[in-house]
This record gives sequence, structure tokens and C-alpha cells, in this order.
Amino acid sequence: MLSPEGKSFLITGGGSGLGEGMARYLAAHGARVTITGRRAEKVQAVAASIGPAACAVAGDVTKPEDRERMVSVAVAHGGGLHGLINNAANMVRGPITALSEQAVLALFHTNVVAGMFLTGLAVPYLEREGGSVLFVGSVHTRRSYPGASPYAATKGAVEVLARVLAAELGPKRIRVNCVIPGAVPTELNVRAGLFSEAENRARLERMLPDHPLGRLGTPQDIAEAVEYLLLAPWVTGQSLVVDGGLSLGVTYA
Ligand SMILES: NC(=O)c1ccc[n+]([C@@H]2O[C@H](COP(=O)([O-])OP(=O)(O)OC[C@H]3O[C@@H](n4cnc5c(N)ncnc54)[C@H](OP(=O)(O)O)[C@@H]3O)[C@@H](O)[C@H]2O)c1
Repeated sequence: MLSPEGKSFLITGGGSGLGEGMARYLAAHGARVTITGRRAEKVQAVAASIGPAACAVAGDVTKPEDRERMVSVAVAHGGGLHGLINNAANMVRGPITALSEQAVLALFHTNVVAGMFLTGLAVPYLEREGGSVLFVGSVHTRRSYPGASPYAATKGAVEVLARVLAAELGPKRIRVNCVIPGAVPTELNVRAGLFSEAENRARLERMLPDHPLGRLGTPQDIAEAVEYLLLAPWVTGQSLVVDGGLSLGVTYA
């Protein structure tokens, strides 16, 4: 049976939402996890509540020196590195006629470019363990939400990265995959200043009829798929949609 027990994982954006869920789930199954985020108090509180299996690194994935620290702390904490989860991301929305170039470039820096460079830094360690990289995509590449083009474009990019890097790193015994979550209530849109928490919950609940399985997702739904993709020894270059059927585009007429 596949098990993360005794393995070491670095999870960017592990101080909240899906990343926090992944950290808690992997640690509960015996892994050592290193979580990162810009808000020191957030990552430290989550790591403390997980216990000694978790270690927090406050840092920004867009800063090269912080990325180096994230990888070296994860290697020291976990006695090596078996998996990198490029989960940290932000959200930018707006009509194509009114986008801020600076905001879109910053979004690509966090959501796409940072994960590319973190992957490069992790390669020497992952190679030793036959480890893997996981990108976090989004159902925004399966359903088209007007006004969300910047975010959707970054998520399209990470799906392609998973395929190309799987080909590039396969000969080093490193697998690269992408998990594609559907709608899970988290602070992503709230942090971006787009909705209040109540508005965010209400707009997600309006999406319930689009879910054949009749409910929104939970961090655990995503963490279970993440565990599989991190560990499955003969799966690489794949995107796994975990969305309660939202991407099917079902219309109940
Ligand atoms: N929730 C959903 O419905 C959904 C659906 C599809 C895909 N996703 C994807 O799932 C992943 C997790 O998102 P989430 O929904 O769990 O939202 P979230 O709770 O806002 O998590 C994103 C995390 O990324 C961190 N982060 C952002 N910029 C960073 C930076 N420059 N450096 C380091 N950390 C940074 C944030 O912490 P700091 O602000 O402290 O840095 C935050 O903890 C993202 O890739 C998102 O695109 C979410």
C-alpha cells in the first residue's frame, strides 16, 4: 500500500486552505511536512497545532533567497525531500479591458514562475528519493468563468508544466503531476479582497446545482488525491480532477 510514512514533503501555502489540509493529512499519515507562507504567525500556528512532524518557514515564493531557505529547511526537517507541492497561489479577477499589467505579472510570478524555480531547487533532493512534484491547478481550466482570465491562465500554465517537466525529469526518476481541485471554501478570494467571507460562501453555494455529487469540496477531498499523486510510482505527467463533477458542465434542464 502507498504510504507517506517517514517521507518528507514541502508544501507552499501550507498555512491555510487546501495546503493546510494537505499538511494535516500527510502528517496524520506519518509524514514530516514543511509548510510555507508569507504570514509567519499563520504558518507557525498551523505547524504548532500539527506537532513535531511539521515545521514552518515564513517566506515568499517569489523571492529566490526565501525559496532556497524553504527547500533547505524542508530537507533538514524531513531528512531529505520526497515531494514538493507547489500549492501557493493568489487570485486576480477583472475584465480583460481593465486588467492591471503589474497585478497580472505578479500573479504569474506567484502561481507559475515561483513553482518552476522551486522545482529546479528541489530536483537534486527528489532525484535521490525517486520523489515527485505536484502542481495545483484549478477547475478554472475546465469551466470558463468570465472575469477570471488571469487566474485561469496561470492554472493552464501549471498543467502544461506538469506534462513537460514529467518528460524532462522522468529519466531522473522524478514524477510530476497536477491535481485539479473544484470548489472548496477557502480564503483565496477573500484574501484577494474580492468578497467577504459570507459573500464567498454564498457564491460557492450558488454553484451547488452544478455539482452532480451535490456538495462543495473539503480540504480532505483534495488531500486524498494529493497523497495518491505524490506516491503512485507509475503515474507521471497527469492531471487529476477532484471536483464533485463540477467540470462535467452538467445542466439539469
Ligand atoms: N479553494 C478552491 O476552491 C480552489 C479551487 C481550485 C484550485 N485551488 C488552488 O488551491 C491552492 C490553494 O488555495 P486555497 O484555496 O487553499 O487558498 P488559500 O487558503 O488562500 O491558500 C493559498 C496560500 O498561498 C499562500 N501564498 C500566496 N502567495 C504566496 C507567496 N508569494 N509566497 C508564499 N505563500 C504564498 C497564502 O499564504 P500567505 O498569504 O500567508 O503567503 C495562502 O496560505 C491554490 O493553488 C489555488 O489556486 C483552490
